[in-house]
Amino acid sequence: MSRIATLVDDTVDLMQRKIAAEDSKRGFAIDPYFYRSHIVYEQELTSLVFKSWIYAAHISEIPNPGDFVQLEIGEDALIIVRDKQNNIHALFNICRHRGARVCEEQQGNATSFVCPYHAWTYNTDGTLRAARHMQVLDGFNIADYPLRKARLAIFEGMIFVNCDQDAADPLPAFQKAGAQIGAYSLGNAKIADQRTYQIEANWKFCLENYLECYHCGNAHRTYAKMHTLQDLYCNVKGQVEAMQARAPEVTGVPGIEAEHIKIYDDADSFGACVSASRYGLYEGFQTGSEDGQPVAPLMGKMKGYDGGTGDFQFGPLTFMLNYPDHCVLYRFIPRGLTSCDIKLVWFVDANAEEGVDYDVDRLTALWHNTTLEDEFIIKRNSAGANSRFFTPGPYHPEFEETLQKFVRWYLKNLANAL
Ligand code: FES
Ligand SMILES: [Fe+2]
Repeated sequence: MSRIATLVDDTVDLMQRKIAAEDSKRGFAIDPYFYRSHIVYEQELTSLVFKSWIYAAHISEIPNPGDFVQLEIGEDALIIVRDKQNNIHALFNICRHRGARVCEEQQGNATSFVCPYHAWTYNTDGTLRAARHMQVLDGFNIADYPLRKARLAIFEGMIFVNCDQDAADPLPAFQKAGAQIGAYSLGNAKIADQRTYQIEANWKFCLENYLECYHCGNAHRTYAKMHTLQDLYCNVKGQVEAMQARAPEVTGVPGIEAEHIKIYDDADSFGACVSASRYGLYEGFQTGSEDGQPVAPLMGKMKGYDGGTGDFQFGPLTFMLNYPDHCVLYRFIPRGLTSCDIKLVWFVDANAEEGVDYDVDRLTALWHNTTLEDEFIIKRNSAGANSRFFTPGPYHPEFEETLQKFVRWYLKNLANAL
């Protein structure tokens, strides 16, 4: 459902009452109100999304001075750019004169950003270089009008941004998963492909779907054939424990199997969720491809296939599924009340050569198809759950446990913001 009938009686007071009412319904899916309210959506952007660390790009996308990529969040856009001095910035794409976007292209190379409106011209570090005819304004100083910047942190080659100037540095939190994520040497990995799936549904339907694997056995037949996460832990415990026991030796990475989960309310600081765990593939499967057989050379420090897959989260909206031969990054970005961008990035080892060591279609098949399957169920979830006649049912205690962690964090922070 892409259009939502506007609630005629929506107010901040109603939002407060709806949040309070959820307290007595713990363990149940949340009220459809939270997916339908424009006031809620605005508050989510202010209090959650723009205060969180979000994956923006990989450093390999901007190797040279002047290289930039854009990141669109909600109605906003950031320019992730490498300046002449080789410093990376996250600049708001908003002219300091009357607010026009100063950069049109989604990616490219620029020596400056010239506003299309009155031609104020900015350097790639965001400083204002020239402002046509403004010398006639008494006291006007170009140094006073640089493009505003978001915070930026680089972890394993991944550039994260946060629009909150007071946000805590996420690196101490992220580094607690350093041994596990370090196995893939993502700092000099290569992007083999990336795609954005524009889903016509509220962002929480998309994220919540990612946070549970209750649907996997039903909606993702190919995935479920290979990944033990689709079953109750008691049914696959033996296989998972055997994989975890052999993983350090087979992969050559000490600590690769260690679990470290501090997400949402348990995160070290707001929006700096981090999670690392390793779950098993069924017997005979080595990686997350359509047939479970390798699709690229081993990545980074990896020495072999242990029958496991690294499951990661960095920040509230960014996730990774890392196989010995390739890594898949998943990022969710709200783009409107009923619109969400899901971005997938496929990484391979820096030395892997397309057409020789890997084939993009084979590499991307499993998670491309799985994402299309997700789009199908998310849109149906949205269409049904947005109905005024929907009465939320109970969450599954194991499969939907992480999803409940998100929901509790979400409601708590929405309430705190008021
Ligand atoms: S709005 Fe950019 S120069 Fe006027
Ligand atoms: Fe799914």
